[in-house]
Amino acid sequence: GLDTSVMLKWIQDSYEAEVVTLTVNLGQPGEDYGVIEDKARRLGAVECHVVDAREQFAADFVAPAIKANANYGNGYPLFTALGRPLIAKLAVEYARRSGCDTIAHGCTGKGNDQVRIEATVATLAPELKVIAPVRSWQMGREEEIEYARKHGIPVKGGTEAAPYSIDDNLWGRSSEGKWIEDLSHAPDDDVFQLVTRPELASDEPETVELSFEAGLPVALNGEPLGLVELLERVAAIGMRHGVGIVDHIEDRIVGLKVRDIYEVPAAAIVLKAHKELERLTGTIHQNQFKPGLDQKWAYLVYAGLWWEPLRRDIEAYVDHVNRNVTGTIGLKLFK
Ligand code: ARG
Repeated sequence: GLDTSVMLKWIQDSYEAEVVTLTVNLGQPGEDYGVIEDKARRLGAVECHVVDAREQFAADFVAPAIKANANYGNGYPLFTALGRPLIAKLAVEYARRSGCDTIAHGCTGKGNDQVRIEATVATLAPELKVIAPVRSWQMGREEEIEYARKHGIPVKGGTEAAPYSIDDNLWGRSSEGKWIEDLSHAPDDDVFQLVTRPELASDEPETVELSFEAGLPVALNGEPLGLVELLERVAAIGMRHGVGIVDHIEDRIVGLKVRDIYEVPAAAIVLKAHKELERLTGTIHQNQFKPGLDQKWAYLVYAGLWWEPLRRDIEAYVDHVNRNVTGTIGLKLFK
């Protein structure tokens, strides 16, 4: 994106340092990894790594989130919060392999991602330094675009208007910035790049059947699928039916309130299905007790505490309850 591209050039100029780039595929749709690598090399990277981490992301990060009905602040299924600890963990691995002494990330000072990435590096590799150029260079978005133009750095979405700030992976997509920061502004149509707006969605409802085994979805409409493919297929169906639009004002861990527009078709369907099936297979006491643990789990992950031992402790209970969450459930999707 814009920040990391400008950063790549800026680090070389400001530190006279060599830069190794790492791009992680977490299932963000429509990404051309060949183009990214090309761009990185043209901007002076000495090594460019592209890692397909979709399977690991689904198995180790999204799967526990499904079992814990992960949902922060009544609407945010945590896709970014789940992706950051994995990206940072891979950054540590690649930094060590390439002999880097510092990890640079592209987070601003406004959000949660700086905390998630720095907490991960501090936990897994306290000997590595961390720099956050976007947080320290004091260029606004318009100035970044100006810098990019001056240095021949291509900017997605044209160079004139500042683009939305996007993050996405196979579990969801977020847009921030521009009018989204104006709470009285209802969503403009162009923000929806994934989910068909309900007014344009199919007039025919569609029923999907999801089969779960021990708390995880294993088949869609009777067809057994691996988790990555299942989530991609469920997302595609949800998108057609206008499912998974969330307009969210969020309590950030740094104390700010920030509005996000989320498009989370896969999470909207899978979490709903899981929660209902879990409620059906649990006893009244389990059903009263678990939401409090789920909420704690979601907050730890939201707050960048993926490596906090309490997360695993909670998962021990969550997994135990989920042993019984096996069965098939149907959902009708309509606008
Ligand atoms: N608000 C969400 C979070 O803190 C998503 C942030 C995604 N970043 C973005 N630039 N859109 O996890």
